[in-house]
Amino acid sequence: MSLTVGLAYNLKTHCPWARGHVEDEAADYDDPQTIQEIAAALESGGHRVIHLPYGAGLFGVLEHSRPDIVFNLAEGWGDRNRESLVPAILEYLGVPYTGSDPLTLGCSLDKAWGKMLAAQSGVPTAPFLKVDPGRGLPADLGGLRLPVFVKPNAEGSSKGIRYRSKAATAGETAAMVRWVHETYAQPALVEEYLPGREFSVGLLGNGETLVTLPVIGVRPGRDVPREALGEDPENEFIYSYEVKSRNMEEAECPARIPIALAARMEALARRVWDAFQCRDVARVDFKLDADGSPQFLEINPLPSLSREWSFLALAARAAGLDYPGLILAILDAALARNSFHRETETGRWTPWRAA
Ligand SMILES: Nc1ncnc2c1ncn2[C@@H]1O[C@H](COP(=O)(O)OP(=O)(O)OP(=O)(O)O)[C@@H](O)[C@H]1O
Ligand SMILES: [Mg+2]
Repeated sequence: MSLTVGLAYNLKTHCPWARGHVEDEAADYDDPQTIQEIAAALESGGHRVIHLPYGAGLFGVLEHSRPDIVFNLAEGWGDRNRESLVPAILEYLGVPYTGSDPLTLGCSLDKAWGKMLAAQSGVPTAPFLKVDPGRGLPADLGGLRLPVFVKPNAEGSSKGIRYRSKAATAGETAAMVRWVHETYAQPALVEEYLPGREFSVGLLGNGETLVTLPVIGVRPGRDVPREALGEDPENEFIYSYEVKSRNMEEAECPARIPIALAARMEALARRVWDAFQCRDVARVDFKLDADGSPQFLEINPLPSLSREWSFLALAARAAGLDYPGLILAILDAALARNSFHRETETGRWTPWRAA
């Protein structure tokens, strides 16, 4: 017996362009190719897939089609609760789904909250200040040391990150804060600038089956313009929207770094995972400070799963898991967590769930 898996997603081409005046408006959303690849991966596991594109009719389609489980990729539309919307609807309807719950998704999308949660759990993260729209910068920058880095408080996929996000003076900082307020209509996060290399750690599973995937190192590719590199290209690389949208980064996995540094980031990633109560899959981003110590940047409990470009697919490959294997591992983690029954002989899941 096969399972019916709903695939919930937002397409780049189907974005309301609510504000419509910034080039990275749809950066978080998926290409049709990624959706096709994930659907094919789910089908390769013997499941029947129904498509659940985000939009006004979603609730009705879900009520009517009643999938056994939903594979959730939906980023939603709107402000900091947008990623929580589909999981909240699924909880209302009693439909199980892959990935983290609405609270985890909301606390991660709000980077200031995420940083407080990480710091509270003993995970180092750069000192920061959140500046709400309508408010100016405090004269002493809240005690932050220059240079700082300015970004929107609740975006992903490098939305609102530009070469000029690094600000060397109070004047540059105020200008970037204003730009964030005007362009993204949300608070700006001002963080002390981290001058070291950048890494990401993927996690997969739950409880005793939770694994950390090999550490990914992000470096500038050959075409990255000089302004994105600072004085020390290897370290001072800004993974901006300009770089990400043109795939100009180079990601290596496993990163060629000392074992102790990799082990430290894996341990921190697990601590962050626990603090945020993540489920099934997530990716934690770090950058090194001036002393070479990893600092938490943010957690992505709804990470990109593009076959060609995503860090998760890369890290899974480095761990010996091919792309369908990664997608089915996420689904299997959610099925096991929801007490679905797996036939011992065939290994196939059935819609039957333990009470
Ligand atoms: N405090 C900082 N110091 C230096 N660079 C930073 C800092 N914060 C962010 N960056 C740079 O900006 C990039 C994007 O930041 P961040 O990971 O917070 O945003 P994001 O858009 O949510 O990322 P993702 O695409 O992983 O969702 C980082 O990968 C890093 O290159
Ligand atoms: Mg990031």
